[in-house]
Amino acid sequence: MTTAGPSTVPRSFAARHPVDAEALYARAAADRLGFWAEQARHLAWDKPFTTVLDDTEAPFHRWFPDGTLNASANCLDRHVAAGLGDRVAYHWHGEEGETRTITYAGLLDEVQRFANALKGLGVTAGDVVGIHLPMIPEAVVAMLACARIGAVHNVVFGGFAPQAVGERMAACGARVLVTVDGARRKGRVTAVKQALDETLETLPGLEHVVVVGATGAPCPMRPGRDSWYGDLCAAAGPDCPAVPLPAEHPLFLLYSSGSTAAPKGIVHTTGGYLTGVTYTHRLVFDLDPDHDVWFCTADIGWITGHSYLVYGPLANGVTSVLFEGAPDHPHKGIWWELVERYGVTQLYTAPTAIRAAMSWGEELPGRHDLSSLRLLGSVGEPINPTAWHWYHRVIGGGRCPVVDTWWQTETGSIMIAPLPGTTAKPGSAARPLPGVSAALLDADGTPVTNGTGLLTLTQPWPSMLRTLHGDDERYLSTYFSRFGKETYVVGDAARLDEDGHFWILGRTDDVINVSGHRLSTAEMESAIAAHPAVADAAVVAVPDELTGQAVVAFVTPADGRAGDAALEAELREHISVRIGKLARPKRVVWTEALPKTRSGKIMRRLLRDLVTGRPTGDVTTLGEPAVMDALTAAVAHPAH
Ligand code: PRX
Repeated sequence: MTTAGPSTVPRSFAARHPVDAEALYARAAADRLGFWAEQARHLAWDKPFTTVLDDTEAPFHRWFPDGTLNASANCLDRHVAAGLGDRVAYHWHGEEGETRTITYAGLLDEVQRFANALKGLGVTAGDVVGIHLPMIPEAVVAMLACARIGAVHNVVFGGFAPQAVGERMAACGARVLVTVDGARRKGRVTAVKQALDETLETLPGLEHVVVVGATGAPCPMRPGRDSWYGDLCAAAGPDCPAVPLPAEHPLFLLYSSGSTAAPKGIVHTTGGYLTGVTYTHRLVFDLDPDHDVWFCTADIGWITGHSYLVYGPLANGVTSVLFEGAPDHPHKGIWWELVERYGVTQLYTAPTAIRAAMSWGEELPGRHDLSSLRLLGSVGEPINPTAWHWYHRVIGGGRCPVVDTWWQTETGSIMIAPLPGTTAKPGSAARPLPGVSAALLDADGTPVTNGTGLLTLTQPWPSMLRTLHGDDERYLSTYFSRFGKETYVVGDAARLDEDGHFWILGRTDDVINVSGHRLSTAEMESAIAAHPAVADAAVVAVPDELTGQAVVAFVTPADGRAGDAALEAELREHISVRIGKLARPKRVVWTEALPKTRSGKIMRRLLRDLVTGRPTGDVTTLGEPAVMDALTAAVAHPAH
């Protein structure tokens, strides 16, 4: 694991727009609410707020509660009104090299039409609209069109399987789903809407399905329910004024994995969320909207895509690159080609992608002129110093600061990251941003000032989640039960060094982080156990050079079925259909029994010890200690 030992090299930011970082920390510390109010005032408010924070029902916090604003107006109208209509919002770059240049004025036009189309389908403020789209501009349009009329979007990652999409639509009670005929991935087209059809039949609350015609993939349409996006926009009126909404009006739901099988519907609001993403995007990435070209490689279906591909960049009025494809298609140097082609100034990506690029060799980036880059960002998992140094040297030419940003779907925006003008240590996300208060606590809740502990956030912040959709109890018990309602429990362990820098060590709950994506062990286990040939299953994470963590599944086959290569292939396919390809186990270990306590609880800790080659800890609480011998043999000698 990364440490702040002598091998680390502190580096200073060479910011284009230096901020006096220490003054900013001091200002925020002296008047936290005044500081956040100042950040919120960078937005355009229809009715200015007079109260900054209402914490009378903590931890159900309300930020800027008496102000009204609209997120889509903040992302579009105000820039167009300021004469920036011709500025490029997105350079969209398709898988096969096609391009679309989308200006702020052009985006505003299309958003207004689609917002009118949604209204025509009966969508009103507060309704939930599901969005299941690949990385095409219509995904941004659909999100902003919802925001424009106060509908709450729920984007489900394009790589999720139909069943996972269906579960998330059912959980949020979506009235409308916006999807696509087909999605392209590495030169192949998958029929998305057709594959969803069976699941859609199980959703009685879903009244309309809007289909973007992107690829011409086979796409049966059900009259009365399904309509084409293009037809709706063509028939819709061009003007749709943005509705002023209370700051606390929900902007979106985003489902994330937790420690039980049911995904958590994280609720973000209009005023607080937008304040957080706009502030952090501007500050952490040393943004210069008049000159920068921003490239965030995250998929729009994850929080990073929401915050730093859509809302942050648009609210700040910058030009972004929106790339449809995979990092290795049509060739493994495509990102570097895009950096050169569009003159990208800041690149924001994940350690897993950096490690993949490292494994493909230095000559690929070396073929392109990357001199436009001036800052590099990382997110999603701890960045190991080797990847950090490679990123810094090969991609950043040794001159670009690397910003390791720690945050979560729940936090909405970056919480811990180095600031321009401060030093960064490879592998550490540095200090909480001005306005953010973090602390490490030991198991008893005693603060740790130099050492390892549980990461907590000790003051509310504007872009925090407000609750879990329809489940206030789970919100309280997941985040605010362990140390009280003042202390948000992150679910990560971290180390604090003598300079007050945080080193994130990883999750402490049953969540696995594969390529920076959160997967729930419980969700995977219940998916595997649902296969008729499976009697019991447990999954654990193992470290993986490329993906950070990978999934190992321990499976007990049901009567009469052999644990063999054929069943393994079947299970991998089964998981891919139930959850998505990301969740496919790297390895399946067959076992006659799982290690369980006498009360039947699976001791995943022992399984983790086994697969990572650590001596297994205390086994005395096991109901059947002999299980461990068989498991040790199974791990050491795979059956096939
Ligand atoms: O464990 C932390 C890890 O990713 C988790 C949040 O996952 P998710 O909600 O999917 O959001 C990912 C993108 C913001 C965290 O609890 N994580 C995220 N960023 C970092 C990180 N771990 C270490 N260093 C980071 N920079």
